[in-house]
Amino acid sequence: MSSTRLPRPRAALYRLLVPPIRAVNRLIRSVSSLSHRFQLRAEAVLRPQSEWFDHYVDSNWQWGATGRSSFVERGVFSNLVIRPGASVLELCSGDGFNTKHFYSGRATRVVGVDANPEAVAHAKRMNSADNVSYELCDIRETLPDGPFDNVVWDSALHHFTPDETGKVIALLKQRMTPTGVLSGYTEVEDIEYAYRKVDFRSKADVADLLGRGFKHVMVMETPDPERTNLYFFASDSRERLPLDQYNPDVLVRNGAGHSQGRTHSSSPREFVTEPR
Ligand SMILES: C[S@@+](CC[C@H](N)C(=O)[O-])C[C@H]1O[C@@H](n2cnc3c(N)ncnc32)[C@H](O)[C@@H]1O
Repeated sequence: MSSTRLPRPRAALYRLLVPPIRAVNRLIRSVSSLSHRFQLRAEAVLRPQSEWFDHYVDSNWQWGATGRSSFVERGVFSNLVIRPGASVLELCSGDGFNTKHFYSGRATRVVGVDANPEAVAHAKRMNSADNVSYELCDIRETLPDGPFDNVVWDSALHHFTPDETGKVIALLKQRMTPTGVLSGYTEVEDIEYAYRKVDFRSKADVADLLGRGFKHVMVMETPDPERTNLYFFASDSRERLPLDQYNPDVLVRNGAGHSQGRTHSSSPREFVTEPR
């Protein structure tokens, strides 16, 4: 008998219980998928242009039905630069899906701020967690008190004019730790969107904008069937950029051998506009 085989009574109980539970859960997922699809249709008809989105539609319907997984990229990528125990400010937190499912699991505390009262109420109701608070706040005017190790700004940079972004960054710099990281995502998209105030066309557009406030900026592009996603990381400390040879958590092997984090010697570049 192999060591992985279950003793007979347990094996019998497994056969009795687990396949039916799986079948019930598959049924629940089908019902959930249908009703989330209906929610998306209803929202699209009744309010075709929306300032924020309920990502449970992505997780419950869109992901499985279309294979479009990019809605999880923003949470996964920002978590690369959030260290356990960090204090995180999330700008424009919207429905709070990423706040709860990504950032709250890594950070000690997360403060989500958004100017849309409906979004804040939804986030509090649907995506609360013990270490998360949501506040109604126009980030062009004010921000919660820091210090914050990380600031996340997902899917919202295009909701601000360059001047407004400059004001937000000036407020942020007073509240971030000296090695703090701003990370997030914006998009290149050809469809009309009523809330878009700036039309980013390339990685360099985003890097130039954020480079006005931070010494080091990395922008990374991923494709999506409906748009191009641009993920950014900005900090005054180059060691905090993810997937970078200067980051102590990263090992890079090239022709000459290994180099790791700060032990690598090469002349520092002030401004990174392209992913390596
Ligand atoms: C497309 S949603 C992104 C929400 C969320 N971060 C996400 O990834 O799904 C853009 C959000 O920016 C918020 N927003 C726009 N202008 C704002 C402002 N001046 N201050 C705070 N939030 C703002 C909107 O209310 C909306 O929730």
